[in-house]
Amino acid sequence: MKTASELLRTEGLTKRFRGLVANDSIDFTLKAGELRCVIGPNGAGKTTLISMISGHQQPSNGAIWFQGQNITKLSIIERARRGISRKFQTPTLFDNLSAYENVELAVLRTGCPPRKRRSRILEVLDLVRLVDLADTTASTLSHGQRQWLEVGLLLANDAILLLLDEPTAGMTVEETASTGRLIRRLGQELGLSAIIIEHDINFIRNLQAPVTVLHLGRVLVEGSFHDIEHDEQVRSVYLGDQ
Ligand SMILES: Nc1ncnc2c1ncn2[C@@H]1O[C@H](COP(=O)(O)OP(=O)(O)OP(=O)(O)O)[C@@H](O)[C@H]1O
Ligand SMILES: [Mg+2]
Repeated sequence: MKTASELLRTEGLTKRFRGLVANDSIDFTLKAGELRCVIGPNGAGKTTLISMISGHQQPSNGAIWFQGQNITKLSIIERARRGISRKFQTPTLFDNLSAYENVELAVLRTGCPPRKRRSRILEVLDLVRLVDLADTTASTLSHGQRQWLEVGLLLANDAILLLLDEPTAGMTVEETASTGRLIRRLGQELGLSAIIIEHDINFIRNLQAPVTVLHLGRVLVEGSFHDIEHDEQVRSVYLGDQ
């Protein structure tokens, strides 16, 4: 049963790759407007989980509900239309186009009326703090700025749920901190939800979002960062070596 504020629910979500169980009957729920970190050792099944939510992988068993509807059989595009938007680490930007033009292409695809386009593009650039770089060619943006522009493209596509797999990989300390502020701002100002897979413990701590710990394809524990940090099981399988 769906509760009023529930955005996403997985039930018994399982993914087998031949003999290997990458996700083992995962029951995961996310409220509307909630940010959630997913952590766990390499191979725990984090990427597999969001791949099934985005539609890039089909579950072996189990179901996925989004806004009260069963989306388990929907294509990637149908899920994206409903607002499930995944960011990959490899950029999908057009390098020779400006930041503005990259967002423009995304906005054009949404059928935004012509008279509203410019304000919509600027609104998106403002959300990701790139208005001052609107005319800069994407190829000359820094690594961090390119990643934020990618997030802007998801926003331009009217995302409701962002799926971010290691969004701060390769970023400087400052860029990582800005990314945390960006994700929180999107939650606060737009009510967006996000599932954020990360290995950077400082980033996770600063995000102040609930954490789900995966281990061997199962949910090991869920709780606040404080709870997780002091959990004996989590320390022994993951945090102990950090
Ligand atoms: N397409 C695939 N074919 C076969 N096995 C796969 C495939 N994708 C993932 N796996 C396996 O499933 C398990 C979970 O992988 P997954 O990528 O979800 O882990 P992860 O938690 O994202 O790890 P990392 O922190 O290293 O990114 C691993 O053992 C991995 O080798
Ligand atoms: Mg992964």
